[in-house]
Amino acid sequence: MKAVILAAGFGTRMRPITHTGPKQLLPLANKPVIQYTVEKLRDASITELCLIVGYMKAPLMEFLGDGSGFGVEITYRDQLERKGLAHAVSIAKDWVGDDSFIVLLGDIIFNMPIKDMVGQHEASGAPCSVALFPVNDPEKFGVAEVDDGTILRVVEKPKEPKTNLAIAGIYFFSGPEVWDIIGKLKPSARGEYELTDTIEIFLKRKRPVNAVKLKGSWKDTG
Ligand code: TTP
Repeated sequence: MKAVILAAGFGTRMRPITHTGPKQLLPLANKPVIQYTVEKLRDASITELCLIVGYMKAPLMEFLGDGSGFGVEITYRDQLERKGLAHAVSIAKDWVGDDSFIVLLGDIIFNMPIKDMVGQHEASGAPCSVALFPVNDPEKFGVAEVDDGTILRVVEKPKEPKTNLAIAGIYFFSGPEVWDIIGKLKPSARGEYELTDTIEIFLKRKRPVNAVKLKGSWKDTG
């Protein structure tokens, strides 16, 4: 399994601190946020990483380098325009090839071992798994409705959320279907190519989308 980390955002909500550096390098207990994710991937024996970079990429690339200092191999791909999470993933298509892969937002922090999530994804046999975490303010997130470990529906920032299960920014994909779906996406109402829409299309095609319920803690550092 390979990993694609999305780190090309502007971090506008964290201005002014993101005027001088990328959000992913902000220190949390003296360690840049992204370092936790890289180390967690390594601990799960996922050592082939592709970082999607854009805004403020130089300090990020300088810090992580080729990954050898962290026990991984890092490749970088530029997202020249910030056109959404699914667009960012599509940039890694050639690099991923036929492998299964995990997608992580570069600005989240969580403590469930990635190995446990991979185990759940692989055991499900589903082409897609989505990590979910219960939150007190689900209206601020993409929210999933789940039955017996399978996702039934996803809604982006619902006014009246039916569950408190937020889409946590960790996704697993196996098989070529994800590339077909992303290739056919249309921009959403906010003009972005969305991973939420990608999940919706799996569901419309009656394909199983597995829910990985995160244990422990999770935070969107933005
Ligand atoms: P966001 O938090 O949605 O975006 P952001 O980092 O630009 O922050 P803000 O909304 O405050 O401006 O993105 C989540 C992660 O995904 C973050 O690590 C950046 C990354 N991302 C991309 O790499 N490409 C994209 O097109 C988008 C939308 C996000």
